[in-house]
Amino acid sequence: MARREAGEPLQYVVSRWGFRTLDLYVDRRVLIPRPETEIVAGAVIDLDPRGVVVDLGTGSGAIALSVAVETKAARIIATDASADALAVARANLAGLGHRATRVELYEGDWFAAVPADVRGGVDVIVSNPPYIAAHEDLPGEVADWEPTTALVAGATGLEAIERIAGEAPEWLRPGGTLVVEIAPHQRDAALRLCTRYLHAEVRKDLTERDRVLVATR
Ligand SMILES: C[S@@+](CC[C@H](N)C(=O)[O-])C[C@H]1O[C@@H](n2cnc3c(N)ncnc32)[C@H](O)[C@@H]1O
Repeated sequence: MARREAGEPLQYVVSRWGFRTLDLYVDRRVLIPRPETEIVAGAVIDLDPRGVVVDLGTGSGAIALSVAVETKAARIIATDASADALAVARANLAGLGHRATRVELYEGDWFAAVPADVRGGVDVIVSNPPYIAAHEDLPGEVADWEPTTALVAGATGLEAIERIAGEAPEWLRPGGTLVVEIAPHQRDAALRLCTRYLHAEVRKDLTERDRVLVATR
């Protein structure tokens, strides 16, 4: 009660939160998994990937671990620049039992963390990257408690999306798919970043807001 009264998000107070079928451990080292990200993970799961899936900026592991339990993907590579976040993802991975053997965790800056042997052969690249601009106001419960590096991308908010959409074609197999969570107001800018793809569209979240960039190589 005292922690809630001090403004701490309920998810950190109870140290856990539901995401799709998972009960994830969460603490202040990671972003609290959001309902809109369940739709992002769902877009990957609907593709029924059987080969390699890469989750960039995995945080608690929410997307990567959902792909592990809800698809037959052979290899799931999850990365984060934050060693602290990866420690949380590792704790959640430990709860998956035998399904955890298909998930690998790597620390580093976006694609620099991905093992070189999957270059050009990835089925799906998925990311919920930071996409807030430095000047944007956030509710106190978010700004004061959640990791800034998980939220703020830079001056425009598009920096991480630009990096990921720009480099993903080198890593996807022909016909492979990029799935990225965006802010609704970034729809047009995100689509403009996808001129090198065969097809790109933005899908809506459960509140009918533009949220999921899906682009096919
Ligand atoms: C919005 S959070 C998403 C966390 C989790 N995937 C989810 O959906 O709940 C963004 C994540 O990207 C990570 N990140 C930020 N900059 C990064 C970079 N340059 N390379 C890799 N990961 C990065 C953050 O540490 C954070 O865990």
